[in-house]
Amino acid sequence: MALPAMQTEPLIYELSSPGRQGAALPECDVPATPLPKNTRQELHLPEVSEVDVVRHFTRLSQKNYCVDLGIYPLGSCTMKYNPKINEEAVKLPGLAQVHPYQDPETVQGAIQLMFELQQYLAEISGLPGVTLQPAAGAQGELTGVLVIRAYHLARGDYKRCKVLVPDSAHGTNPATSSMSGETVGLMLTNPNTLGLFEENVQEVCKIVHDAGGLVYGDGANLNAIVGVARPGDLGFDVLHSNLHKTFSVPHGGGGPGAGPVMVRKDLTQYLPGPNAVKVAGARVAGARVAGAGSSARYKLAMPKKSIGRVKSFYGNFLALVRAYTYIRSFGNEHLREIAENAVLNANYLLARLKDTYSAPYGNRVCKHEFVLTGTPIAQKYGVHTLDIAKRIEDYGFYPPTIYFPLIAPRRRQSRPRTGAVLQRLKLLQPRWGSRLSNCGIKWDADERGRARIGI
Ligand SMILES: Cc1ncc(COP(=O)(O)O)c(C=O)c1O
Repeated sequence: MALPAMQTEPLIYELSSPGRQGAALPECDVPATPLPKNTRQELHLPEVSEVDVVRHFTRLSQKNYCVDLGIYPLGSCTMKYNPKINEEAVKLPGLAQVHPYQDPETVQGAIQLMFELQQYLAEISGLPGVTLQPAAGAQGELTGVLVIRAYHLARGDYKRCKVLVPDSAHGTNPATSSMSGETVGLMLTNPNTLGLFEENVQEVCKIVHDAGGLVYGDGANLNAIVGVARPGDLGFDVLHSNLHKTFSVPHGGGGPGAGPVMVRKDLTQYLPGPNAVKVAGARVAGARVAGAGSSARYKLAMPKKSIGRVKSFYGNFLALVRAYTYIRSFGNEHLREIAENAVLNANYLLARLKDTYSAPYGNRVCKHEFVLTGTPIAQKYGVHTLDIAKRIEDYGFYPPTIYFPLIAPRRRQSRPRTGAVLQRLKLLQPRWGSRLSNCGIKWDADERGRARIGI
C-alpha cells in the first residue's frame, strides 16, 4: 500500500553494531555478578543506540494505515470518524481514574453520566428500558435474545425455540438466534447490511406480535436513522445499538466497544445489570461527596427479574463516556445530522459509481452504505473485485470491504472433500498472474506457495 514511509525498513538486528547501547546507566554501586556464560550471545540482542530504536519504531509506525491518515470505506462498524474531543473527555481524571469497587457515593458524576446516556438512548430508540452492560453488538444481541427468552418463560410459554432471521441480516444474527432454543420472535437488521431500509416494518412487527413473538432489532446501523425514525415507534420490542458505530467510539482491531440494549417498558425488569438509577430527591451529607449540594443522587441497581450480569462491573465505561460526549456535542437539535450526512454521502457515492460498476440495488435510495458488484468488469476484462481492491491499496486508499471467498469447512466435512477444495483453490493460483497483470499488478506465488505482490 502506498503509505507515507515507503522506504524499506531494515530489521532492528540489521541496524545492530557491536558495542552500541541505548541507555547510559549510572555507575554500579553493588558488587557485580557476571551473567552465566554466553547468556548475552545466546540472546542475540541487537546493539543499537536510543535514537536508532526510536527512529526504527517511528518509521514502522508510519507504515500503518489509520483513520487519522485516510478514509476507511468499511468504516461504519469500526474505524469511522472519532472526534478528538471524545479522547479529551476520557482523560478527565474524575472519569479515567474511577474504580469499579469505589463506593457509588464517591462516583456520583460517573453514574450520572451513565444514567443520562441511558436516557438519551431511550429517547433515540423509542424504547425506555436500557442496559449499558454489553461490550459489543454481538453481545447486545445475545443479551436481547436472553431477555426475550426470559419474557416467554415468565409467561409460562416454554415451547418456543426458533428465531426467524431474514437473509439480509447481519452475520451475527443467525449465530445469536441459534443460541436461544415454536417461534420466539424475529430478528431484523434495519437498515440492513446491504444498506437498505427494510420495507413494511410496522406490518411485519404486527404479524410477529399477533403470533405471540417479539421483534428484535439489530440497531447497529442506527447511524442511518438516528434522530429521523425511532425503532420503538416502528414496533420493535428490543434493540441493540453499537456505540462504536453510531456514536463514534473507536473500535479498530476489535478494541473495547459497547452494545447497549434498549427494551420496551415491561421488559425492563429482565435486563442485565447493574444499571444506573436516579434516586429522586435523596440527599447525602458531606462536602467531599462528588455532586454534593445537588438533590439528585444516583445508584447502581439490578432489575427485579434480571437475567444476570453479561459483563463484569458496568460495561466498558470509557466507551460510554465517548458516546456520551459525542451525543452531547451534537445536542438534541443536531443529532439527526449524523444520519442525514451519512445517507447523503452514501447516496452521492452510489450515484457516482453505479455506472462504472454495477449496483444490484442502485434503483433504491440507500441508507448509510451500499453494495456494488464487479461482475461485469470481471466478465469483460477478467479483472476481479479483489484485484481492484488491491490496486486501490497501491494508491494509498483502504479498499471497501469485499465479499471474499470465506473458506468455512463444516464440522462434519470429510477429509478427502476438504482436500479437494484445497487443491482446487491452489490450482487457481498460477492464473492470478495473468489476470492481475491487467490492472498493473503482478501477483504470483513464491517457491513456498505464498502469495507476494510486485509492481
Ligand atoms: C448490523 C450489525 N450487527 C451486529 C454487528 C456486530 O457488532 P460487534 O462487532 O460489536 O459485535 C455489526 C458489526 O459488526 C453489524 O454491522
